[in-house]
Amino acid sequence: MQASTTPLVQLTNVRIERGGRTILRDVSLQVPQGSITAVLGPSGSGKSTLLAALTGELRPVQGEVTLFGKPIPTGNRELLEMRKSVGVLLQGNGLLTDLTVGENVALPLRAHTRLPVAVRERLVQMKLHAVGLLSAGDAWPRELSGGMARRVALARALALDPPLMIYDEPLTGLDPIASGVIMSLIQRLNHSLGLTSIIVSHHVHETLPICDQVIAIANGGVVFQGSPAALEASQDPLLQQFLHGRPDGPIPFDAAPRARTA
Ligand SMILES: Nc1ncnc2c1ncn2[C@@H]1O[C@H](COP(=O)(O)OP(=O)(O)OP(=O)(O)O)[C@@H](O)[C@H]1O
Ligand SMILES: [Mg+2]
Repeated sequence: MQASTTPLVQLTNVRIERGGRTILRDVSLQVPQGSITAVLGPSGSGKSTLLAALTGELRPVQGEVTLFGKPIPTGNRELLEMRKSVGVLLQGNGLLTDLTVGENVALPLRAHTRLPVAVRERLVQMKLHAVGLLSAGDAWPRELSGGMARRVALARALALDPPLMIYDEPLTGLDPIASGVIMSLIQRLNHSLGLTSIIVSHHVHETLPICDQVIAIANGGVVFQGSPAALEASQDPLLQQFLHGRPDGPIPFDAAPRARTA
């Protein structure tokens, strides 16, 4: 067992490139165990790129990423094993339309365990219950509202009981009510199951109330790491612009070309 003071996720002086271009540089951050961390930043700033470095999908060209106190493994088998401990809710739900809701949630269990069918079905029911959709197991994805589909994807991400959950834009395409449901679900699951959660979002006002710390990225790097209160109190014009969604300010409208430096 690692000491409880060891951050669950730690990045030290990380630089990440994509297509030969530096997307993020000098990234150092820590995610404490049991916490909810929001990663905020404008479109194209590298939020999804940062997540890809946490799942081992992208290897930093510089620096170190540790998960659960260990560097991300390089061997395929070890990497697959590590990924079972990371639940990912991707941008978009990724539900398979020719499988029922229950079958979708069962997918990770079929792929990674040899549990008897009856046990698997019980686990699927438990996960659907956790997201408030116990009776939806036999429904087809096309019969679900956007908010319900997002909850099914959440149940599937939880299937293997991963201690770390990563959410990439969990509110995209949802109305305010469905957004509220998803956010309180993320918060409740984090605390009741003892998870650690990282939420990437540009929905600042929905995300800040449930998180313990905020990491803001812009212009190719981390521009803030601290509590939501510290972010709201900050007088930094860049953070102010982002918090209040102003079109003009230090964050350029087209963020991508600026990242080419370094
Ligand atoms: N597969 C790829 N190959 C090359 N460049 C990429 C690739 N994916 C993303 N990029 C570039 O990396 C930068 C960051 O993209 P990323 O998807 O991480 O942004 P983001 O912050 O998640 O944006 P959004 O809020 O729109 O999802 C962008 O400039 C993008 O063009
Ligand atoms: Mg993204």
